[in-house]
Amino acid sequence: MTYDFETDAASIKDNLDCTLIGSTVLLLPEVDSTNKLVKEYLENGAEEGLVAIAEAQTAGRGRFGRTWHSPAEKGIYLSVLLKPRLIPNHLSRLTLMAGVATVSTLNEFTRQRATLKWPNDILINGKKACGLLCEYSQAPDGTTGIIIGVGININHLPEQFPEELRGTSTSLLIENGLPVKRLSLIRSLLNHLDQEYQAYLTDGGKETLRKWTLNTDLFEKQVIITCGSNITRGVALRLDDSGRLIVRTEGGDEKAFDSGEVTLRTK
Ligand code: BTN
Repeated sequence: MTYDFETDAASIKDNLDCTLIGSTVLLLPEVDSTNKLVKEYLENGAEEGLVAIAEAQTAGRGRFGRTWHSPAEKGIYLSVLLKPRLIPNHLSRLTLMAGVATVSTLNEFTRQRATLKWPNDILINGKKACGLLCEYSQAPDGTTGIIIGVGININHLPEQFPEELRGTSTSLLIENGLPVKRLSLIRSLLNHLDQEYQAYLTDGGKETLRKWTLNTDLFEKQVIITCGSNITRGVALRLDDSGRLIVRTEGGDEKAFDSGEVTLRTK
């Protein structure tokens, strides 16, 4: 395996400071999608906290059926299985929880401030460095789970992104000018996910919403929200208690969005 670290799944697992996450760690040279793999593990009775990490993905999945560019040696592609009791109506809060854990991690590894863009992107200097894909899944025996998928652009040079992503994507290497050790970042990410998930289990997501708000630059900005064929223009105001994005539309009403894609307006 050509990871920038010499390790194996056992040594990742043994060096975590986690209560729950990392109960099992799978480290794979290549897989189609770590989210898809974890879903299969759920169907086969895997326990909560299972983590799958791949060096490369051949069919990394993004939101809205997009693909996630997942070349070897460049990024982090990992998925975690959670089995909270309150699903599925808490899926959006768990997405925000994963965002808080990931942005806290990235801010330990970048000099530029990483910020959250609702619902599940992390930007550095206005470009996307990380995407989260949280999926609800039910096994044939009725067991339910949430799969938290995290893709982070770490050591990509600009020309190593496909042309269509170059204007909108970035990596920690591009922003910092220095490569980042992916193993250190993986450990920190799993520790942060464990802490934020424990907090979520304790208070149902109150602290998540507070931290999310502290880690975004979205509020008071002009945005366009695309939801299928519906496009809304307005000003992003805040999150409500369910994690929905509240927008003041151009007509002056306040509208709550529970899904959609946000574009920051430049004028
Ligand atoms: C997005 O921004 O559209 C979400 C991208 C999520 C990508 C990650 S990479 C690890 C995990 N496995 C997948 O197939 N997707 C997620």
